[in-house]
Amino acid sequence: MKVTAKAPSNIAFIKYWGKKDENLRIPANSSISMNLSDAYTITTAETDENLINDEVSIDGKILAGKDLERISKHVDLLRSGTKNKSYLRIESKNNFPKGAGIASSASGFAALTLAVSKALGLSLSEKELSILARMGSGSACRSIPDGFVEWVAGDNDKTSYAYSLYPASYWDIADVIAIVGESPKKVSSTEGHGLAESSPFYEARIRKMPEKIEKIKKALADKNFTDFGEILEAEAINMHSVMMTSVPPLYYLNPETLKVMEAVIEWRNEGLESYFTIDAGPNVHVICEEGGSDKIKNKLKEIGFEKILVNKPAEGAKLI
Ligand code: PMV
Repeated sequence: MKVTAKAPSNIAFIKYWGKKDENLRIPANSSISMNLSDAYTITTAETDENLINDEVSIDGKILAGKDLERISKHVDLLRSGTKNKSYLRIESKNNFPKGAGIASSASGFAALTLAVSKALGLSLSEKELSILARMGSGSACRSIPDGFVEWVAGDNDKTSYAYSLYPASYWDIADVIAIVGESPKKVSSTEGHGLAESSPFYEARIRKMPEKIEKIKKALADKNFTDFGEILEAEAINMHSVMMTSVPPLYYLNPETLKVMEAVIEWRNEGLESYFTIDAGPNVHVICEEGGSDKIKNKLKEIGFEKILVNKPAEGAKLI
């Protein structure tokens, strides 16, 4: 069978950094995110009895070695749930520019999980898909449900999954991404999670998480953009403090990243309300209310950033 699925990337407002269980990718804390309308992966999967291995291409490049292994391992996991043992031909395309520093693992593993499970004849619930996507890349579980999402940390394979808090249409906010760095990360997030515990600030971060999650969910329920923004910006700094104080330290921010962070604070003081968040890379996600996205885009251009992606909230993984 031949199936095509589309899945969005997502930006976390409350981040996942550190795991309770390495192999099962059970996070140390729950996280909250929004799917992105303009950063997505489209994946076509087709079973073929003549194949003697899975064949995978991403953006036209045929995978081999470690890259292929990671995908095949995930496909094996999906195959283990069915009698259909066929190998698959898998073609995946990202709409965002290659090497733009936008992680494709969330959208990639979400689209892969949906397309391959369907091609193998499985009919899984959203929760089951989220659990399986999590096994490929933790944050991929948040790209399965629609709109604004909570990934409940849970404590075992079956209790760690994401669900939709609100649909994409719930709140007109935008994520304007300033593309700062184009080179691949020096330390992958998979590796980085393992270092989190070595930071002296990690324990305090995890201890305060339940309270922080309650607060941001309240701000989301009230559509209180100021509270929402203040929490998400402080959260990004909190996570990067843990990263920078782990052993060895991880510096994902660079001088250009800091330039955007300072500019966002300045614009805010001048009345253009926006807040920043940053993942495991130098790009800055500027979160604003929908009406502000053009202004933010222009301001970013004025301070020298040419590559900018504007995202609205989006639905989760879907068959197309
Ligand atoms: O899913 P991973 O292993 O790529 O980890 C994602 C880590 C962050 O992007 C830094 C935070 C998050 O919650 O998305």
